[in-house]
Amino acid sequence: MQLHLLADGIGPRPTGDLVSRAEAFCVEAPYRQPPFNMRNWGGPLHSLCSYQGKLKPSIAAFLVSWFSEPGDRVLDPMSGVGSVPLEARRQGRVGIGNDLSPLAATVSAAKLVPFDTDDVDDVLGRLTKRLDEDTPLSVLERSVDVDFGLNGPIHSYFHPETLREVLVARHFFLTEPSNGAAHDVVRSNVLHILHGNRPYALSRRSHPVTPLAPTGEFEYRSLTRQLKARIHRILPELLALISQPDGQAYQQDFRTLELESPVDAILTSPPFAKSLRFWSMNWMRLWFAGWDPIDFQTEPKRYLETEQMTSFDAYSDFARSSARLLKDGGILVMHLGETATLNMVDHIRPHLAPLFDIAFTGRECVLDTESHGLSDKGATTAHWYLFAQKC
Ligand SMILES: C[S@@+](CC[C@H](N)C(=O)[O-])C[C@H]1O[C@@H](n2cnc3c(N)ncnc32)[C@H](O)[C@@H]1O
Repeated sequence: MQLHLLADGIGPRPTGDLVSRAEAFCVEAPYRQPPFNMRNWGGPLHSLCSYQGKLKPSIAAFLVSWFSEPGDRVLDPMSGVGSVPLEARRQGRVGIGNDLSPLAATVSAAKLVPFDTDDVDDVLGRLTKRLDEDTPLSVLERSVDVDFGLNGPIHSYFHPETLREVLVARHFFLTEPSNGAAHDVVRSNVLHILHGNRPYALSRRSHPVTPLAPTGEFEYRSLTRQLKARIHRILPELLALISQPDGQAYQQDFRTLELESPVDAILTSPPFAKSLRFWSMNWMRLWFAGWDPIDFQTEPKRYLETEQMTSFDAYSDFARSSARLLKDGGILVMHLGETATLNMVDHIRPHLAPLFDIAFTGRECVLDTESHGLSDKGATTAHWYLFAQKC
């Protein structure tokens, strides 16, 4: 089996100062060249768990390669499922991920934090024992509202016995003491197989990224069997990272993130303005990761996706926290979106200006890019890269 340990073919970073590297990055768009433009480039770890809003792995890989050096500490303070810190780890940097979402933080931890395979077996063993206890569905339904759902009620996605197992597993991950990243590894794999349109999925036929209304037969899918098959496939990829520097994963608002020492680079892709609402697109995995129905009304207010619908002032906080976490002279790169009526760069630039020198901004039209069978671009018509250095 060929494992995807290092970002093969990425090559060394070009020489030159930040401005010339930034300009070359935007003109050459190396991540768009073959083989980096292939849909599955970067290997299965980037698909550890599907996530609406995930950055293209090759963009993450080239940002890491061109704007940091081996040994550097590289932070993404809004890391989603950890594409940037995973590529950082693969390229010999210390990859640090942070995200407010429990779903994103779990998946990032699985990719970044070292774990022991015995601990994975331990989690699997304890989960299987719980599933075998045979708590009836009627009892479980007393504590979980399975009529809740955004494209359809949760109960409509699963065969009743699979639903029982999904509820047991959700409760298990929310209540059992965690034994570190092994817990996140197993949980990320359950999150991934929760819904989809392939035989690996626990749900009836739906979509792998967003749980669109299910169709087809109610067929029993054993959670343990599907989960073990999935872990068997993904574990060698995770274990191949052991020789790489350990990474770190946090679940914080970027404003309150504290690190033991400053980072050399912040590479991040904040939510795009007017992008499709992440909580509705990722709703079933957020529910499994701990959100209750009421959280879908209260939690989104805490996220930048919501804040920036009315104002970009939150980017003053972003600039302050980034400057606090970065070394003097450290680099900040932001991957941003433009819609027909709004360019994020214009709105964010004034908030960065007092603390950062903006070295270069570059635009890339994305109207021609594929959408993986589901519109994942929202209203976005172009991507921008903003390159800055801490004053
Ligand atoms: C476009 S996604 C990042 C995707 C990521 N680059 C990846 O490849 O998965 C933006 C992320 O910002 C996170 N986010 C929004 N507001 C935040 C906040 N205040 N603090 C930390 N993370 C936040 C969201 O949860 C979301 O995962």
